[in-house]
Amino acid sequence: MYNDKVMAQFANPKNVGYIENASGYGKVGNASCGDIMEISLDIDANGIIRDAKFRTFGCAAAIATSSMATEMVKGKSVEDALKLKNADVVEALEGLPPQKIHCSVLAEEAIKEAINDYLSKK
Ligand code: FES
Repeated sequence: MYNDKVMAQFANPKNVGYIENASGYGKVGNASCGDIMEISLDIDANGIIRDAKFRTFGCAAAIATSSMATEMVKGKSVEDALKLKNADVVEALEGLPPQKIHCSVLAEEAIKEAINDYLSKK
């Protein structure tokens, strides 16, 4: 069902965890499956994402997209990270089964929520 790249991210996810005193925190859920994803970000004074961590209580696709999405936003400015689309994450994973595309939306939403939390505290 999943390609090798997705399986590799699922089997060995990057950036699992939670950043204490995070600059921005986002938690989103998918009402249809009940899965939950949270993302915490460490953002420096110049608005660059120094670190990103996730905890996902969800399916393999949700875990793989969380891992890839956190890798993709590290080192980016918050403006650039806000432009990250779930399609970009799916492309970086070289595709997801059609019925699993909705899982990748969680990663995009959680990152946006974490950045908006950071911006609201500034
Ligand atoms: Fe719920 Fe994938 S089935 S996020």
